[in-house]
Amino acid sequence: MRRYHVTTFGCQMNAHDSERIKGMLEELGLGEAASPDDADVLVFNTCTIREKPDTKLAAYLGDAGARKREHPDMVIAVGGCYAEAQRDRIFTRYPQVDVAFGPGTISHLGEWLGAGGEGVARGAWGIAEERRFAATLPMHNERRFQAWVQISMGCNSVCSYCIVPAVRGREVSRRPGEILAEIGGLAEAGVREVTLLGQNVNSYGRDVETDFAELLRAVDAVDGIERIRFTSPHPKDFRRPVIEAMAECAAVCEHAHLPLQSGSTRVLKAMRRTYSRDRYLRLVEEMRAGIPDLALTTDLIVGFPGETEDDFRDTLTAVEEVGFDGAFTFVYSPRAGTEAAAMPEQVRDEVKRDRIERLVEVVQQAAARRNAERVGRVEEVLVEGPSRTGESLLRGRTRRNTTVNFTGDAQAGDLVEVRIDSATSTTLAGAQCAAVAV
Ligand code: 5AD
Ligand code: SF4
Repeated sequence: MRRYHVTTFGCQMNAHDSERIKGMLEELGLGEAASPDDADVLVFNTCTIREKPDTKLAAYLGDAGARKREHPDMVIAVGGCYAEAQRDRIFTRYPQVDVAFGPGTISHLGEWLGAGGEGVARGAWGIAEERRFAATLPMHNERRFQAWVQISMGCNSVCSYCIVPAVRGREVSRRPGEILAEIGGLAEAGVREVTLLGQNVNSYGRDVETDFAELLRAVDAVDGIERIRFTSPHPKDFRRPVIEAMAECAAVCEHAHLPLQSGSTRVLKAMRRTYSRDRYLRLVEEMRAGIPDLALTTDLIVGFPGETEDDFRDTLTAVEEVGFDGAFTFVYSPRAGTEAAAMPEQVRDEVKRDRIERLVEVVQQAAARRNAERVGRVEEVLVEGPSRTGESLLRGRTRRNTTVNFTGDAQAGDLVEVRIDSATSTTLAGAQCAAVAV
């Protein structure tokens, strides 16, 4: 039997797509290889949001090319956002690549690989105009009690730093009936937590006559689904009905990942985020007033073109003012073809490095303060398995999406109550209360 290996870069949408890619390859009769060194079909599901994943991919493809010289029947396929950004240039840049496909064309992968994954259409390129939801494809689910569910594809925003709209195309919503049917099936198969995925979940539904708040309420009504998460919302579209749905739906978790990007209104304007610092802060207030115990995480970029020391300090004070529970922090990376890449006032690398270090420190302090507030409380934890830190400990996540390492006796997929005894900036630690599932 020929065997495949999928390497995934980037965001949760790619993780979701990779499960579909694996499902398709298994339908073609391939088995999963434990490592790329044992595989006949190598798939790279790529990301191009910053320069770093591009460089990493180059190294992986170098290794794969070397192996292919010894095993010429190997097939190398490159999918995802980097592939879409490069299109057929990928075959000149990396002659070892047989098949390339964009994020919307996974459903065609089978045609290019052929039964058994022999690579029948070498040099094939998937055309993005035929975009389809990968969600309709077979799935290879890694964790039987958690699942990603795609609700839309593409993005209609024009953030000046971001390559995603160029590679993922205009936003298209998936029909609510299809989404609910998928979630119903997942629940029957034992899934208890779903994460709804879209580039901007809060603009979901405009093209299918519904909205995100209605979708949340409908998913909440699905029997067996006990936790609903979503990522990512855009602050500009986070409206009252969604806040109300979050507050009123028992299964919707008390957590929002709300990308701020910068605390400076001037920089936000140049980023074309269409909200100001004050509007973001007011939204946070409104959300916290409406949703008790809400955890907030965010994305932040330092070194956007023209960012001054004062602008950067506005980001630091915004982190302190909001008191984020966590943040992904990024150094601005110019992406060819975006508006910001052509801006004249690019920030020097050493300034960017200095700012990211200072930002990470302030983010960690805020997160540590927020986590310390959980000590002494009892949290509902969805068990994910043994802890990575100690053999005898279990690991899971709270509704607020914080990782907890704890002593107890439970199986992956159980919902248990854990008393929190200590906290760091990224994790909580504690002990399971009674061994009774909640
Ligand atoms: N440089 C750095 N970070 C970026 N992001 C998007 N584009 C860039 C870029 N060019 C970040 C944003 C976004 C997250 C997914 O990646 O913070 O929310
Ligand atoms: Fe990377 Fe963005 Fe594509 Fe996700 S959508 S894989 S973050 S470029």
